[in-house]
Amino acid sequence: MGTAAIGIDIGGTGIKGALVDVDTGGLLSERIKMPTPKGGRPNDIVQTVLEVIGKVPQLREGAPVGVCFPAVVQHGRTMSAANVSDEWIGLEAEKLFEEGIGRDITFVNDADAAGYAESQFGAGKGRPGFTILTTLGTGIGSALIYEGLLVPNAELGHLALDGHEDYEKVASYAAMEREGLSWKQWAKRLQKYYAHLEMLFSPDLFIVGGGVSKHYQEFFPLLDLKTEIVPAAFRNNAGILGCAALAAHAAGTRRRREAEHAVEATN
Ligand code: BGC
Repeated sequence: MGTAAIGIDIGGTGIKGALVDVDTGGLLSERIKMPTPKGGRPNDIVQTVLEVIGKVPQLREGAPVGVCFPAVVQHGRTMSAANVSDEWIGLEAEKLFEEGIGRDITFVNDADAAGYAESQFGAGKGRPGFTILTTLGTGIGSALIYEGLLVPNAELGHLALDGHEDYEKVASYAAMEREGLSWKQWAKRLQKYYAHLEMLFSPDLFIVGGGVSKHYQEFFPLLDLKTEIVPAAFRNNAGILGCAALAAHAAGTRRRREAEHAVEATN
């Protein structure tokens, strides 16, 4: 068995967690899912995360823990709240979870976690150059990955485009459902969106995640793009895999730094 880390994915409707083999991206435990507490308030979510962790029997003492969340996360603080309670804005979320859980965690944006998972284990694995992952769900999440390196906190779902101040409000999967759009109507909006991203970033690859990506055959053929576009390999587990892998990465970096400091101290 390879290196293990725990991944916890906090979403608007559910909180999911599992132990992950971060060398292969395989799950080492059952995937636990519990409903997100109503209102999505910080302390309630911490309690549910504790319950999820408590239900992973193979939970290894000391395994790094990664948690991902649908907000901008800077230095452990949640800096936005597009589809969650406003109480998260400016909150020291990483600290709150560390105190609640009683161990160190790595706290990241949900789309960043999904993008990292796809680049390490999924549709972007081994792909050179620049990949943009977008998740089409309640909102639109985005992750920028260049040669396996993640540039965090791209909020490309909130681009102002085509007379709309916040394009995720008209082009997310939730918007399609809300307005009862056909695939063709929705694809028209997606076309504008992805063509705009192409113009801004010239990526080598688009990966499309979110539950609706399993129906990619319904809308990919309606898009006319220069860039290759592929569905995500992981729909439900991408967040879990990615934040577990990022937590293991952060733990490795911490260990290396400590070892370097120890050598410096003895010199
Ligand atoms: C949020 C992002 C998040 C995305 C997907 C957006 O509304 O601003 O931070 O990644 O939804 O959950």
